[in-house]
Amino acid sequence: MAKQIRLNAFDMNCVVHQSPGLWRHPRDRSRDYKSLRPWIELAQTLERGLFDGLFLADVLGVYDVFGDTADAALIHATQVPVNDPLLLVPAMAAATENLGFGVTVTLSYEPPFPFARRMSTLDHLTDGRIGWNIVTGYLNSAAKGLGETGQRGHDDRYAVAEDYMQVVYKLWEGSWENDAVRADPASGVFTDPTRVHRIRHDGPHYKLDAIHLCEPSPQRTPVLYQAGTSPAGRGFAGRHAECVFMSGPSKQVVAPRVAAIRKAAVEAGRAASDILVFTLMTVIVAETDEAAEALMADYCRYADPVGALTLMSGWTGVDFSRLDPDQVVEHVDNEAGRSALENITRADPNRRWTVREVAEHVCIGGIGPLIVGSPRTVADALEAWIDDTDVDGFNLAFAVRPETFEAVVDLLVPELQKRGRYKQAYAPGPLREKLFGRPRLAETHPAREVARFRA
Ligand SMILES: Cc1cc2nc3c(=O)[nH]c(=O)nc-3n(C[C@H](O)[C@H](O)[C@H](O)COP(=O)(O)O)c2cc1C
Repeated sequence: MAKQIRLNAFDMNCVVHQSPGLWRHPRDRSRDYKSLRPWIELAQTLERGLFDGLFLADVLGVYDVFGDTADAALIHATQVPVNDPLLLVPAMAAATENLGFGVTVTLSYEPPFPFARRMSTLDHLTDGRIGWNIVTGYLNSAAKGLGETGQRGHDDRYAVAEDYMQVVYKLWEGSWENDAVRADPASGVFTDPTRVHRIRHDGPHYKLDAIHLCEPSPQRTPVLYQAGTSPAGRGFAGRHAECVFMSGPSKQVVAPRVAAIRKAAVEAGRAASDILVFTLMTVIVAETDEAAEALMADYCRYADPVGALTLMSGWTGVDFSRLDPDQVVEHVDNEAGRSALENITRADPNRRWTVREVAEHVCIGGIGPLIVGSPRTVADALEAWIDDTDVDGFNLAFAVRPETFEAVVDLLVPELQKRGRYKQAYAPGPLREKLFGRPRLAETHPAREVARFRA
């Protein structure tokens, strides 16, 4: 049977996510990000389209690499102002029953103990529909906001992340036994203390001597998402990730990365299929190819190349304001994200990018590919992507919010269903059960080593 296509929506609690300038489009509602109502309606739309999840990106700093100042980011609203993503989740969860929520939290700037409690709380409040996108950050501005002089080195961040994961696994999986809470009015015992275990961790970066503060939540450990594809990132994903987010402009760039991630999982003693890979994609779909092309032409009128280069500068650590528009972008090694620059330098030997081409491409949907057309055209292209790259689904960015997502739900999803490539209904249970058929981490996952108490 042909592989099913999975869909995630890719969004952020701000005005401009991956499509700089489009906030000026008359139908765009991005500016309403400060209110709950549009988020609730978006969650309901996505659930109507049987999306696996809404993935909320986040950064804890400002994109100030372009021109070595925050001015461009502020003027062009490139991911600033940006509100906290986690606080949106309970309201959206209350208005939906099945949609998952993948939230991004940078582990570099928050101790594991309070973070583990926040995620357990969200897992309780969503009835087990929470996922965590494990990120270590790529902006020096974030480190400075936290009182540091700059961010740690690239590979060192992954080493810190390893230690962090051990702490949160112990708290989520090893502190409270399943039946620790008795809530027994007759004896007056709420929690049986013999079934709650103190976690002692003495690692290279984190120390802890505490019990977890929450009783076991439906999934215990949230579904684990990760997005790095550098050698260090792949090793980390192979060990820890259940879902991997990728971004690359073409199949030539994405396919080898998918293979490398699956290989890393196998090397870590897991199955290649233990990881679901979602690749960044923007779909502009309308009733006909002509109508979709017209929509795209309309969107392009609002594109903002300076905003695009401001984003690219933040992602890559390269100040694009210093480069000539017709200059070919060359690779440099620095301490920002590695794969973002490789996308346009050496990931595809047959494709060189000038600064101008980068600016034009990133204006709609970031560095991911763009598919424009009728439901049939788009479905053909997505099927080919799945078959040619071995990804499991797409992380769909928007051009205009919520219009881009509404069109996918109303036009594309029925076409994919007709082809037998998309689910007809949600599977039951928590997010992990919907994705993998089990509510708890796989037996082969490293967290199970500390999971003393099993379902
Ligand atoms: C689709 C996608 C979404 C991402 N979302 C975030 C995010 O919300 N916040 C963040 O700090 N990093 C985010 N990242 C960056 C990654 O966490 C990582 O830092 C980056 O991919 C570089 O890792 P690498 O050098 O190992 O490839 C994202 C990356 C991708 C590909």
